[in-house]
Amino acid sequence: MNIQDDMEWITCDSPVNIAVIKYWGKRDEKLILPLNSSVSITLNHEELRARTTVAISRNFNEDKMWLNGKEQSMKNARLQSVISQIKRLSRKRKTDCDQLDEKLQWKLHICSENNFPTAAGLASSAAGYACLVYALSKLYGINGDISKIARLGSGSACRSLYGGFVIWNKGESSDGEDSKAEQIAPETHWPELRILILVVSDQTKHTGSTVGMQTTVATSELLQQRLQTVPQKVDKIKQAILNKDFHSFAEITMKDSNQLHAVCLDTYPPVSYLNDTSHHIMQLVHAINEDNTSNMVAYSFDAGPNAFLFMQEKDVPTIINILRYFYPSSDPHFLRGLPVPEKDDYHVDYTTFIELKVVPRALKFVIYTKPGPEPSVKETDCGLLASDGLPKLHQ
Ligand code: PMV
Repeated sequence: MNIQDDMEWITCDSPVNIAVIKYWGKRDEKLILPLNSSVSITLNHEELRARTTVAISRNFNEDKMWLNGKEQSMKNARLQSVISQIKRLSRKRKTDCDQLDEKLQWKLHICSENNFPTAAGLASSAAGYACLVYALSKLYGINGDISKIARLGSGSACRSLYGGFVIWNKGESSDGEDSKAEQIAPETHWPELRILILVVSDQTKHTGSTVGMQTTVATSELLQQRLQTVPQKVDKIKQAILNKDFHSFAEITMKDSNQLHAVCLDTYPPVSYLNDTSHHIMQLVHAINEDNTSNMVAYSFDAGPNAFLFMQEKDVPTIINILRYFYPSSDPHFLRGLPVPEKDDYHVDYTTFIELKVVPRALKFVIYTKPGPEPSVKETDCGLLASDGLPKLHQ
């Protein structure tokens, strides 16, 4: 933490996570308690991350927040709930410290930005809330589990507080004390695993996850069916991850994504997140897998048409070759992220995919990444706020 005159500040980075067993539906809207446990993979910071600087000063007149360069209202119930819970925890831990008590009264400036294009339509609230909670916990000197607080900002944010492979246990208690995230294995556990994010060209506005979930819980009969089978799926995917069994991991991942979107269609009125390109990607993935003795690639879709593809590093050049064939693009920055490993000895027989059309420009771009670590504290020079507590960009 940096202390300059009467301002104290800290900057942190936090990762994006992608669920392979999805969270869909709350049993408590206010405490954000889920109806089912979910499992996710935390992605590498280099390619996708939120960065947040939080600062407090006796000279600030009001709480302020900037997100991707634009000032935001602080009148947001979830944001307020996160900040008040962090302060409550800080007070509880340091009751005898007058100085801290005074600092808890100081106004707060928050500045946050993502290193991936907002236009990509990738869920950024999980990384953003995880980053805010992590940074505030460092600023106010809180140790221990803070995933319960991140959960209050955005449910899936609690999973971004851990690296690698993560479970968010739904918990049983009505106060949410046991509804928190836990690491299954660190990112180093399965070093061969890779992720391609296929950003789908798409203009439509999608139903937000909060409203989508509420309508599903109120109307879908299929959701009840799903909830009965999630515990077994969670156990199975945990085993597949621990055994690095890609074939099973891929099958469970795809089936769960399909079930989420089936439940969305069973919602009344239906909620539809996938578009023609999403369906084309699904068909392509199944065609690739059929052409192999075991699964080579798996897809997963959240509340939008973008695809998250999982595969092993050795298969990345082949998959990218196939994607470039079916979704040709003239964009020189079509493929972003990690450098693609060289491989000359692969051969793809496109006649296997005879029924699939080539769809130029169906993808905006592709981000190549891998599992990554938990949030981290950054160097002073990475800070987003200047010494006067205002965003550096705005000076
Ligand atoms: O945490 P929320 O409210 O953004 O909901 C996330 C919902 C999904 O991304 C579709 C599934 C998940 O578990 O991340």
